[in-house]
Amino acid sequence: MIRKAVFPAAGFGTRFLPATKASPKEMLPLVDKPLIQHGVEEARAAGVRDMIIVTGRGKNAIEDHFDVSFELEATLEKKGDGKLHALIRSISDLADFFYVRQNLPLGLGHAVLRTMDLVGYEPFAVVLSDDVIDAKTPVMRQMIGIQEKYGAGVVLAIQEVPRDQVSRYGIIKGKRIAEGVYEVEDMVEKPKPDKAPSNLAIIGRYILPPAIFPALQATQPGAGGEIQLTDAIRSLIGKERVIGYQFKGTRYDCGTKLGFQMANIAFALKDPELGPGLRAFLKKEKVR
Ligand code: G1P
Repeated sequence: MIRKAVFPAAGFGTRFLPATKASPKEMLPLVDKPLIQHGVEEARAAGVRDMIIVTGRGKNAIEDHFDVSFELEATLEKKGDGKLHALIRSISDLADFFYVRQNLPLGLGHAVLRTMDLVGYEPFAVVLSDDVIDAKTPVMRQMIGIQEKYGAGVVLAIQEVPRDQVSRYGIIKGKRIAEGVYEVEDMVEKPKPDKAPSNLAIIGRYILPPAIFPALQATQPGAGGEIQLTDAIRSLIGKERVIGYQFKGTRYDCGTKLGFQMANIAFALKDPELGPGLRAFLKKEKVR
């Protein structure tokens, strides 16, 4: 059982400047919900109860978002807007939220290491809210099924990417043991296309064992001078079973402007209120 999920959210969001100058990237709305709420809801749907968010300076909006807003709730109640009141209340009721600051910009591995005391000695999930995955069965739930089936210490969500994009990801080398399931033998963070062992990229969902913490403590800065989660997981191969799992679902890279726009369009088209109007607009634009 996975009870805790870690959400690294301390980055500067430079790709989205100027939008992210004074507000966190994680709060950018995907249709009408902040990106990070999509990730939290996915984890909740997989049975996770405790959300551990790694924040930094200027990220207070995330804490406020998941907290009770007395003033707003009182106003909505007074107005008699029960529907909206219930919607707002449901956000703070989603889970228990815990926060820890990443005081130095030393990378994803360092962000996860900051949660060591909050996670304690149990397996846990990591969710990168930049990667939004639309799936019938929430991807984290799919991964927990794989963890149980294969007795895996580590489960990595993976996806094939075009060769010329491998240097944006952690890339695995693995042996296919079942449809969409790989026994990971090696992995490398952001390789050059000619050095990549495959085109199977790690996407932002992980199940990790507590042994990842001492591994992270022993990990030296790697690609980009940062402490890489990929390098720490690599050091566990042979000690823990590491499985790469090609999830079922559509992933949107909301860490880029293009992927973020695509996600907004795809999600809005599926929205019963917005879909018809947007579809008509897109049709008209195409004729132009
Ligand atoms: C991080 C990980 C990388 C992974 C990617 C998925 O990179 O370091 O291994 O493939 O997330 O989105 P980042 O996007 O933070 O550069």
